[in-house]
Amino acid sequence: MYKRFRYKRESEEVRLKYRETFLNKEDFILPLFIVEGSDIKREIPSMPKVYHFSIDRVLTYLVEMTEIGLKSILIFGIPDKKGINEALDGIVQSAVKAIKEKFPDLEVITDVCLCSYTENGHCHIGDNDETCKILADIALSHVKAGSDIVAPSDMMDGRVYHIKSKLKKNNYNDIPIMSYAAKYASNFYGPFRDAADCAPSTGNRKTYQMDYCNRNEALDEVYEDINEGATQIIIKPALSYLDIIRDVKEKIDLPIIGYSVSGEYKMIYESVNQGWAAEDLINETIISLKRAGCDRIITYFTPYFLEKLSE
Ligand code: PBG
Repeated sequence: MYKRFRYKRESEEVRLKYRETFLNKEDFILPLFIVEGSDIKREIPSMPKVYHFSIDRVLTYLVEMTEIGLKSILIFGIPDKKGINEALDGIVQSAVKAIKEKFPDLEVITDVCLCSYTENGHCHIGDNDETCKILADIALSHVKAGSDIVAPSDMMDGRVYHIKSKLKKNNYNDIPIMSYAAKYASNFYGPFRDAADCAPSTGNRKTYQMDYCNRNEALDEVYEDINEGATQIIIKPALSYLDIIRDVKEKIDLPIIGYSVSGEYKMIYESVNQGWAAEDLINETIISLKRAGCDRIITYFTPYFLEKLSE
């Protein structure tokens, strides 16, 4: 004899009864690219339906987005001119202030990195520990501007330690640090580097981002970031790293966030757009991240899901 399973799949109504994984509006974190100037909402050539916004226009966009249930954003700043000073007091801090003033309940996460501010597009200034000190100052400036959570994405050793100490020293004991703990040197970042103007002009990021051949090392990175003070963990990219997401989920109790990066977005978007795959591919891939163990997901498809979940 054999067991029968097909009764579970008889119709959409029946399938729904047996479904194990669902997406909610609260699962989504929307990345936003903020540029200087005014009245700018410019589609990013490498990322269809993703925009460069000036602060005034992002506020209008956020009215639309919060109306359909947006709860959380991740801010990237693209300065007009490069330089560390811009990272310490520039477009991100202004954007955070303006956004928090108008949307006090919206969770604002800021990406902490140097790659959009250095001339060579690298996430560091040469020396690891000197870079960490600057990153800590940047994180503090974001928090002073009103950022709810800081998210270091540079992959220097000890950055979480430096950020945590700096925040503590300034009496910000309770600011969560969402660290990109396991961030791989990935080919999936291509479209983003266009968007954030941060492609390295020489070399690559393999001396600081993780080797994509490694699995065990991800847990070492995650445990270390937690020791240093991380309160939530980003795995990045997401789709080719479901094993890592599952490993981390099984070992730690902190919130796990999957970053479905620009190249994943582009690949899925174009497959659907060109008619190679049904639109349901979007749901299938994002559900797979949640099924693997993500509590929340950073994705450029956030507006798409918020609209869909509002129907
Ligand atoms: C910067 C940073 C990158 C991404 C997020 N923060 C690019 C990189 O590391 O090269 C990639 C995001 C994406 O591809 O969507 N450190």
